[in-house]
Amino acid sequence: MRRAIYPGSFDPITNGHLDLIERAARLFDEVIVAVLINPAKTPLFTVEERVEMIREVIRSPQVRVDTFDGLLVEYARRVGAQVIIRGIRAISDYEYEFQMALMNRRLDPTIETIFMMPAEPYTYLSSRLVKEVCALGGDVAGVVPPGVERRMREKLFGKA
Ligand code: PNS
Repeated sequence: MRRAIYPGSFDPITNGHLDLIERAARLFDEVIVAVLINPAKTPLFTVEERVEMIREVIRSPQVRVDTFDGLLVEYARRVGAQVIIRGIRAISDYEYEFQMALMNRRLDPTIETIFMMPAEPYTYLSSRLVKEVCALGGDVAGVVPPGVERRMREKLFGKA
């Protein structure tokens, strides 16, 4: 059983994340999308809302959603995952991802990090940019699922 975790903040999930989840689902028997519980950050959406939004848009039966806190490698061990998936967009992602992958390997050499690239139209996408554009009245249709767009508007402007 090849099990991978796809960890992140997912505040909120974008079509880039979704693209990666679908690619990973074709490679692994089970993919767990793992939403980080991070009390140090002030997210736009609660962990529960983020989990709900992900559940609404995942299609593959071998994908499930979970939350975690503490060390990622400990969570991976706990759920029996051999692989951590991270999406890599531009060169700018590389340094941080490289550091994290090697630190995680140091913490647990049996867990492998695999980098995957999203489809080309999503290579510039980030949750942070999407939130900023939406907050300033820009159009985010096509870069986040419709349900996420609606919830973002509700959150930011009090209406869909
Ligand atoms: O979507 P993000 O915010 O880039 O995801 C970052 C995440 C959740 C993968 C990272 O912050 C993480 O793994 N946090 C858990 C704590 C941990 O294990 N830290 C050490 C990483 S080397």
